[in-house]
Amino acid sequence: MRFDTANHIARGKKFLLTGGIPSGLVASDHSAGLNVPKRNEFYIRSASVQDVVIMESIEREVFSDLIPLRRISRDITRENGLYLNAVRQWRSSEKKIKSRLMLETKAEKEDSRISARFKRTINRYFLDYLNPPRLPPDYIAGYVGLWFVLDEAHVIVIGLREVDRRKGIGELLFINALEQAIANNSKVVTLEVRRSNDAAIDLYMKYGFQKTGLRIRYYSDNGEDALIMTTPPIQSDDFRVHLSNLTRQHDEKWGCPPRRGDPVD
Ligand SMILES: CC(C)(COP(=O)(O)OP(=O)(O)OC[C@H]1O[C@@H](n2cnc3c(N)ncnc32)[C@H](O)[C@@H]1OP(=O)(O)O)[C@@H](O)C(=O)NCCC(=O)NCCS
Repeated sequence: MRFDTANHIARGKKFLLTGGIPSGLVASDHSAGLNVPKRNEFYIRSASVQDVVIMESIEREVFSDLIPLRRISRDITRENGLYLNAVRQWRSSEKKIKSRLMLETKAEKEDSRISARFKRTINRYFLDYLNPPRLPPDYIAGYVGLWFVLDEAHVIVIGLREVDRRKGIGELLFINALEQAIANNSKVVTLEVRRSNDAAIDLYMKYGFQKTGLRIRYYSDNGEDALIMTTPPIQSDDFRVHLSNLTRQHDEKWGCPPRRGDPVD
């Protein structure tokens, strides 16, 4: 059985992951007596400068409140930073959509004010012909950002477009982020999360994060507190086995992404 090897993670980074955590192969189709593994159309690759234009539109959609957008282009080129994107191939119907429309968030597309409609018309019939923005080679559902500081890996951000949530894609990103932290020899992974963000907290706890602190009124938009969450030592056998089991369960539920394989040059 052969699998695509499209793992572009950590391209050019010194903590390149080549082995990966063992993941299960699932028989989902027994046609012709062959076990055909269940496949996930999404896979993870490292972000590049060409992706920033779409990542910023995801950022506007997911975190309309706070985050300065220039952070992504700055972070992508940081020596100690790593952004991973969850991607799939473009569908042919999507390719027909004009580039600037692709960059709009759901709210922007639904904005019915005259000024917004006028802007859309100009974009569609004028700017897109004159100077179409260059889109990435594949559809990006979301991303996770990591900083490696001393012996810690810090999850700066994780977010998906609303339409792509609850399909195991956030978890796939998170698994890959943890694998990268292990490959980088980080001792623990840490992050901050809004106290009210039950979905994210649930995901982090599933992967062994514990609440280790509180930052009072951390978020400036509504003064909400941030929980600090931290893993146990990620190089420990216990953690690796836990991650490996959850990875296998994820593959069984959602299908195997082409996660392991040849690094790109
Ligand atoms: C948090 C987020 C990345 C999860 O991604 P997702 O693809 O929707 O989640 P998945 O389908 O991979 O689910 C993985 C796990 O996350 C948790 N989870 C995800 N959505 C949940 C929800 N609505 N309620 C409770 N738990 C949830 C569960 O533990 C789930 O595991 P399970 O399927 O075994 O129950 C996504 O909801 C998101 O982008 N939210 C907005 C941005 C954000 O809040 N980011 C975190 C702060 S930086």
